[in-house]
Amino acid sequence: MAFQCFWVWLFLLCGFWQVAFCDQDGFLSLSCGGTASFIDSSNISWVSDSTYVTTGNTTTVDYTEGSSSSHVPVRFFPDSQGRNCYRLPVKNVSSSVLIRSQFVYKNYDGLGRPPAFSVSLGTAITSTINLTTSDPWTEESVWPVDTDTLPFCLHTIPDGGIPVISSLEVRPLPQGAYKSGMGDFPNKSLRKCYRINCGYSNGSLRYPVDPYDRIWDADESFSPSRLSTGFNIQLSFNQSSIRESPPIAVLQTARVLARSDVLTYNLPLDNLGDYHIVLFFAGILPVSPSFDVIINGNLVQTNLTVKNLEAIALFFTRKGIKSLNITFKNISFYPLVNAIEVYEIVDIPLEVSSTTVSALQVIEQSTGLDLGWKDDPCSPTPWNHIGCEGSEVTSLELSDINLRSISPTFGDLLDLKTLDLHNTSLTGQIQNLISLQQLEKLNLSFNRLTSFGSDLEKLVSLQILDLQNNSLQGIVPDSLGELKDLHLLNLENNKLQGTLPQSLNRESLEVRTSGNLCLSFTMSTCNDASSNPSIETPQVTILSKKKNNGHNPRATIIGAVGGALVALLLISLSVFMFMRRKRSEVTYTERARMEMRNYNAAKVFSYKEIKAATNNFKEVIGRGSFGSVYLGKLPDGKLVAVKVRFDRTQLGADSFINEVHLLSQIRHQNLVCLEGFCHEAKQQILVYEYLPGGSLADNLYGLNSRKITLSWVRRLKIALDAAKGLDYLHNGSDPRIIHRDVKCSNILLDMEMNAKVCDFGLSKQVTQADCNSCDHCCQGHCWLS
Ligand SMILES: *[C@@H]1O[C@H](CO)[C@@H](O)[C@H](O)[C@H]1NC(C)=O
Ligand SMILES: *[C@@H]1O[C@H](CO)[C@@H](O)[C@H](O)[C@H]1NC(C)=O
Ligand SMILES: *[C@@H]1O[C@H](CO)[C@@H](O)[C@H](O)[C@H]1NC(C)=O
Ligand SMILES: *[C@@H]1O[C@H](CO)[C@@H](O)[C@H](O)[C@H]1NC(C)=O
Ligand SMILES: *[C@@H]1O[C@H](CO)[C@@H](O)[C@H](O)[C@H]1NC(C)=O
Ligand SMILES: *[C@@H]1O[C@H](CO)[C@@H](O)[C@H](O)[C@H]1NC(C)=O
Ligand SMILES: *[C@@H]1O[C@H](CO)[C@@H](O)[C@H](O)[C@H]1NC(C)=O
Ligand SMILES: *[C@@H]1O[C@H](CO)[C@@H](O)[C@H](O)[C@H]1NC(C)=O
Ligand SMILES: *[C@@H]1O[C@H](CO)[C@@H](O)[C@H](O)[C@H]1NC(C)=O
Ligand SMILES: *[C@@H]1O[C@H](CO)[C@@H](O)[C@H](O)[C@H]1NC(C)=O
Ligand SMILES: *[C@@H]1O[C@H](CO)[C@@H](O)[C@H](O)[C@H]1NC(C)=O
Ligand SMILES: *[C@@H]1O[C@H](CO)[C@@H](O)[C@H](O)[C@H]1NC(C)=O
Repeated sequence: MAFQCFWVWLFLLCGFWQVAFCDQDGFLSLSCGGTASFIDSSNISWVSDSTYVTTGNTTTVDYTEGSSSSHVPVRFFPDSQGRNCYRLPVKNVSSSVLIRSQFVYKNYDGLGRPPAFSVSLGTAITSTINLTTSDPWTEESVWPVDTDTLPFCLHTIPDGGIPVISSLEVRPLPQGAYKSGMGDFPNKSLRKCYRINCGYSNGSLRYPVDPYDRIWDADESFSPSRLSTGFNIQLSFNQSSIRESPPIAVLQTARVLARSDVLTYNLPLDNLGDYHIVLFFAGILPVSPSFDVIINGNLVQTNLTVKNLEAIALFFTRKGIKSLNITFKNISFYPLVNAIEVYEIVDIPLEVSSTTVSALQVIEQSTGLDLGWKDDPCSPTPWNHIGCEGSEVTSLELSDINLRSISPTFGDLLDLKTLDLHNTSLTGQIQNLISLQQLEKLNLSFNRLTSFGSDLEKLVSLQILDLQNNSLQGIVPDSLGELKDLHLLNLENNKLQGTLPQSLNRESLEVRTSGNLCLSFTMSTCNDASSNPSIETPQVTILSKKKNNGHNPRATIIGAVGGALVALLLISLSVFMFMRRKRSEVTYTERARMEMRNYNAAKVFSYKEIKAATNNFKEVIGRGSFGSVYLGKLPDGKLVAVKVRFDRTQLGADSFINEVHLLSQIRHQNLVCLEGFCHEAKQQILVYEYLPGGSLADNLYGLNSRKITLSWVRRLKIALDAAKGLDYLHNGSDPRIIHRDVKCSNILLDMEMNAKVCDFGLSKQVTQADCNSCDHCCQGHCWLS
């Protein structure tokens, strides 16, 4: 009894001694839902929380605990939309802060359903509060401060009920406290599990005993496997060696192992996780005890010696544990421990980059709405309309609002993978998206956009592009074909027309076109003839020479070379085929196709090879009636012209290969040589030798800025070359071929200005009808052009 009295005296003395040396600098104590300021029994000033929070309703709850009855204000958050946040000022604080919150339900609403909800600090969810388990519930976290304002938020959880809070305290901690031994876990938050004042059994100690107002719980409620008497002795210690500065009153009591050789604290933990353990020892005994420290069966410290009047602290982290026992094992004299702190290590998610945050704020302003976008966009929970991966904002969905245009600010959201701006009154052209190189899904449907703009083709990651129900006009740009990952392109219900670029005609891409004026890959599927710009003539007729038929076919080239303009002459270079012989339609079979594979003259390319050679169809060097021509480079360095065909009626697979077979046999110095072809899925691609001199048309009319003056001699040579090429087609080749589209854009020049005729050969299949009609026209000496 005398001993206890002594202790009480010591405690009071110590307490007053402490008060003399500290004040409440930096303390913030909020009475949640309270209206009046007051000073409590510990001389701590409390204020209403209303200046730090904007949401929630308030009420008071009366309850009795033991002999005392309390009248406690609470704030609850019936509107579960978004985050319910306090913004705590920590501006003046240069160290970590302790944030302590208390939650009381006590049936304030008369429903008898204690809620469960989660709580976050900054970007980290720190804990889940379950008031069924404990009411009231107290949470404490050590937070490393690096901002002016620390958001503290309550979040509803499914079926959890209405979050409720009764008090919130901010306490600056000593500089550098709780960082020792955290090497593996820099900049983490610590959630308090235990803070035990070992050997002390008369309630909790806090301010003013602890100037930092930590709550040190009495030892009695823990269950060491072997109980021993607590010691408390009037001594003072030089604590400045310990950054955590435990109060002297706490160090003056210890649990000391007197008779047995093992002292163990068993400390159950809430979660499987990483934990930080701090052990305080003080030399309150006249002897210097030495002992081993064992945590969860692992020897963490051998022969720890605590010298008289010396205070020491040990720090440990333990990864992936879900229970904790700490054992002190006697080596000599009386092992002891003065205080134990155990914290769960809580990860603090990275904050979203400030560029992204300010961009989103600008966007929020431009909507003219309060979207409730505050604090970090991604953590602890993403804002409404936003999706995140880690600390990157990867999706933004704003719809049914009045945005009018895609402002340049959207271009700052560099990590976006999904952007959905459907029904946001967008007008004009699609713009300001070029920097969104991660963008995979873009939904701009249900707007009033009129033009594709030039940004889309640069969005190399795009997979889904939804432009339905806009006012897009004109033709679909060929450049969209450069989006090689695109697999859905929705152009429905626009005002588009014309043929779709062949580059979009691939197996992996679904193009939706209905509801436009006239839009398809093949003009023949267009019913609206008026929107069909031109009906093209078939370009070739392939006739097989009937062998051994005794008389030579009569074929004449009627050409004229001369006059003022070679171009004119060439255009009017007329080709007559006069044939009276019986012709037979060329028919080939699967067998021919197999032969083709073995045929050396023309190489069979895979679509992949073509894509590689053309650098994914990058450079267009010409646009013919049958499709675009791209510059390509074969692995051996040879330049080629890659012609991607599309036609009103594509050739059947057999016919295509058959004709390629024929063409590949035609070799003449004045005919452009077919190097190879590709026939995969719907693709029909021809690979020709590349002629760097451009076409005669380019040279005459200065297209492609190639204009050079052609001398008369040169013009004559070109005319002769072209005539020789045509002559070979008509008379030399087997089968004989009628060009039927001789024009100066179909005469190409090489480096030395030798001319070669191109674009002969493939066309729609030669049908009997064609032959018949050709019979007539040939007999009538008609022009073929
Ligand atoms: C209470 O705190 C104030 C300053 O916050 C101080 O002036 C006063 O002396 C304290 N009172 C007691 C009884 O500690
Ligand atoms: C919360 O307060 C609002 C007005 O501030 C009121 O309309 C609402 O009914 C209150 N909710 C509850 C559950 O008391
Ligand atoms: C810091 O706190 C002191 C009082 O403790 C106050 O006078 C000062 O204005 C604060 N500074 C800032 C930047 O809030
Ligand atoms: C809260 O705790 C009670 C009892 O421990 C349990 O039945 C209930 O499922 C818990 N609620 C949540 C949301 O975890
Ligand atoms: C920890 O936080 C400080 C201040 O915010 C920062 O300077 C430091 O780089 C961070 N350390 C790590 C490892 O993240
Ligand atoms: C416990 O502390 C209270 C004051 O906080 C004191 O009145 C009481 O006598 C103490 N009890 C013992 C057993 O020391
Ligand atoms: C406390 O210890 C520190 C070094 O750890 C020393 O600098 C300081 O003088 C000591 N203070 C007292 C009062 O002994
Ligand atoms: C302490 O924990 C270890 C490992 O978790 C276990 O093997 C040992 O039995 C525990 N000791 C006691 C006394 O609970
Ligand atoms: C423990 O350490 C003390 C001094 O620190 C030493 O005198 C003693 O021999 C050591 N005991 C053992 C068992 O290592
Ligand atoms: C343990 O402590 C006692 C004193 O309480 C001492 O006699 C004994 O030698 C110590 N060592 C071991 C290993 O028990
Ligand atoms: C577009 O948003 C408006 C509200 O801004 C809404 O009335 C309309 O129904 C929406 N239209 C579509 C197609 O979603
Ligand atoms: C784009 O948004 C519209 C309107 O909500 C929707 O109908 C359509 O399915 C979306 N497109 C894609 C590809 O998700």
